[in-house]
Amino acid sequence: MHTAETASPGGRHEKPAAVLAGLGTCLPTTEFDNASLPTQLDTNDEWIRTRTGIAARRRAAPSVSMRDLACEAGANALRSAGLDTVGGLVLATTTPDRPCPAAAPEVAERLGLGQVPAFDISSVCSGFVYATTVAASLITSGIVDSVLVVAAELYSRIVDPLDRSTAVIFGDGAGAVVLRRGTAAEQGALLAFDLGSDGSGHRLIHVPGEREQPEGPRWFTMAGRKVYLRAVERMTASALRVMKDCAWAPETIGALVPHQANSRIIEAVAERLGVPPQSAVCELARVGNTAAASIPLALADALTTNQLKPGARTVLTAFGGGLSWGSAALVWPQLKAVRSEF
Ligand code: UT7
Repeated sequence: MHTAETASPGGRHEKPAAVLAGLGTCLPTTEFDNASLPTQLDTNDEWIRTRTGIAARRRAAPSVSMRDLACEAGANALRSAGLDTVGGLVLATTTPDRPCPAAAPEVAERLGLGQVPAFDISSVCSGFVYATTVAASLITSGIVDSVLVVAAELYSRIVDPLDRSTAVIFGDGAGAVVLRRGTAAEQGALLAFDLGSDGSGHRLIHVPGEREQPEGPRWFTMAGRKVYLRAVERMTASALRVMKDCAWAPETIGALVPHQANSRIIEAVAERLGVPPQSAVCELARVGNTAAASIPLALADALTTNQLKPGARTVLTAFGGGLSWGSAALVWPQLKAVRSEF
């Protein structure tokens, strides 16, 4: 656990911090609503809506790559920040277009960032929070002055289209933020972080390797109910840690932005934390679970609906494969999200 604020009187807000300065998203143009899912799935709109809150999801055309969505979202975040370039790029994805090399250097090159440090992070649905934490550390340690954090996922490429336990849930999309060097006193400053993992649960969210499964298609699988219970428990505990670090009482939280996996999980986490129910951001109805991309996509939607306002005490929290989880706290800054479809 780490907090960017210090207890020293007077110097508390002068401490360097990474400040959120831009937000961009990109979604594939094609939407599949619940009614358009294959009949072989043996599912129905009512089950999906009541059990998950999902009404539709986006799926990229075969010609679109994860890197395409990452570049679009990244370019939009730079536009939102009013910047042409940054000092580094961290890309969160578990649906890379190829196993090797990492996609981040190519995305950086396509965005015209030059020969900056660029690498991928593979933390499944916690990827955005992990990437943001690492990017903030690069800034506060003085290695770079600014970082583009991108989360891009094409789960339609790894989910079995005929597995109803995953096919109804996951969607494609990308989101990105720009972090720059500033101080903890500024709106947008990332004030506290928490990260954790539990490898004993690695099989609960899983894509088998060639050695584990030499034959047949190697699809993504998820032990839904077991993951559900752990997601509620871990996100609640992790969010509480960053709230405690910031000395933020639950009723003062303006926006709780959890990983967007299931509306019931989001409600349960908000209830356990004791934050006002109207502060819980739930924006998965039209995009489904977009893994690492879900938090920046939800932030952009919450800005559009005015649920997220400048000055709001904002807590991001995520849980995913690994198992992995993490949270970050910031006071929401004045900015406009730039969105596009591809
Ligand atoms: O993003 C990374 C982290 N992921 C998560 O946080 C996801 C966590 N898990 C979940 O969101 C939920 O567990 C699911 C949405 C995946 C499943 O909901 P659930 O309420 O936990 O359902 P369940 O798996 O316990 O299944 C209940 C019933 C079963 O039937 P029986 O055995 O009771 O007859 C399933 O076969 O619902 C059935 N079922 C479905 N029925 C219609 C499972 N999927 C479907 C479906 N349509 N798509």
